[in-house]
Amino acid sequence: MKKLNFEKRGLAVLGAQWGDEGKGKIVDYLSSKVGVVARFQGGNNAGHTVVVGDQTFKMHHLPVGILYPGVKCVLGNGMVINPEVLINELEGLQQRGVDTSELRISDRAHVIMPFHRDFDSAEENFRGKQKIGTTGLGIGPAYADKAYRRGLRMIDFIDLDRFTSWLEEILPLQNAFLSKIYGLPGYKKEDLLQKFAPLGEKLSASVTDTSLFLREQLNKGEKVIFEGAQGALLDLDHGSYPYVTSSPTSTGGILTGLGVGPQSIKDVLGVVKAYTTRVGEGPFPTEEDGETGKIMREQGVEYGTTTGRPRRCGWFDGVIAGYGAGINGFTGWALTKLDVLTGFKTLKLATSYQLADEQLNHFPPLLSDLHLCKPNYLEIDGWEEDITRARKLDELPTETRNYLQAIEDVTKVPVVMVSTGPEREQTIVIRKDIP
Ligand code: GDP
Ligand code: IMO
Ligand code: MG
Repeated sequence: MKKLNFEKRGLAVLGAQWGDEGKGKIVDYLSSKVGVVARFQGGNNAGHTVVVGDQTFKMHHLPVGILYPGVKCVLGNGMVINPEVLINELEGLQQRGVDTSELRISDRAHVIMPFHRDFDSAEENFRGKQKIGTTGLGIGPAYADKAYRRGLRMIDFIDLDRFTSWLEEILPLQNAFLSKIYGLPGYKKEDLLQKFAPLGEKLSASVTDTSLFLREQLNKGEKVIFEGAQGALLDLDHGSYPYVTSSPTSTGGILTGLGVGPQSIKDVLGVVKAYTTRVGEGPFPTEEDGETGKIMREQGVEYGTTTGRPRRCGWFDGVIAGYGAGINGFTGWALTKLDVLTGFKTLKLATSYQLADEQLNHFPPLLSDLHLCKPNYLEIDGWEEDITRARKLDELPTETRNYLQAIEDVTKVPVVMVSTGPEREQTIVIRKDIP
């Protein structure tokens, strides 16, 4: 009998906070060393920035590995895909000379339709003050339809007959919701077919069984990066519910979102910012809404890649980072944006929360508790030196290294990579065997 190869070849690269940790930069840095990069959840709510020399790329659907010729890229079954956005992204890259032919799209991935966006904004309006602050791109409603078992899968979208039958079956229901609940106009089957059937045809050559493909690649010994979108605190199950996204952003999502086994994951890298940011609504215990937060926002250029919204900023929260490490099993930190903290005289790092007279070391499930939690801070001396040219750990000032040590001590996870600027070269690799 042929021996199965159970060697672990996969590296998960996941956000550890509320998204925008710099996953794009880290995955891009590591992509030159692997054969495959796969996204497993989320949709175009993601905005992953890659800076290469004087060029900036913003990926919403595509794995950032697409920028490397020959790296095979996968959009997994756990994703929700807006065909128009995906095609624009592909064509935009092609115009910039990027070869996108190595893209494979799961036949089981779900498709975002225009009414999903309508429901997203209508539901946000309906919630009023309680709104989630979504990206408004139809992500939640597309996942909800998947769970309701009335979603549109890629395999059906790219076949005219099956797409037509799906519209005939599902559109009357969607139109009824739009008009009867939200007083919005509905859609005509013919209009949707006219607009979307050609898009399905364009994508059809890339649609395949990506679970099978990935398992073949892993068994052949290819190294694979599992590129996460959003972050641990936006995870549908483990995040700051209901202020979360609608997909599993953590390690568990890789298995269901790609159809691979747990033995395919060797390391789980948590991408974590040297401070904390958040876009959208919801609790944020270490938020600094005054001058400190403003300095972080300006120095870190903290404006959303997808929506342009200013990001809320605050100190490093060791409670949420430790929580993210626990639910994901992080084996190391890729710590980003350390350069942004240069110039602060004193840095603060939350080591626990105070809830009345109780000290919490864990992230509480009740939002009302979280709103009352006050961080207990460790204060650490800052540094003035420019660290953007450091390429080795010992080129960092002592205070900077002390800060990294404090993060390791609080979270119990080793820092294995450090990013000191958006460029590829502005990276310090501590553990050389990754991936
Ligand atoms: P992602 O969604 O996790 O990929 O992160 P985003 O791309 O949305 O946001 C991170 C931003 O920080 C991008 O503009 C990156 O170019 C930038 N960035 C990444 N790493 C660093 C770093 O170490 N220092 C600085 N100054 N910027 C960084
Ligand atoms: P990347 O991959 C930061 C946030 C939204 C909102 C909540 C729900 O770039 O890190 P959704 O549209 O997903 O239903 O919105 O999730 N959110 C993100 N925040 N980075 C992201 O992606 C995000 N994707 C969604 O702001 O609070
Ligand atoms: Mg982002």
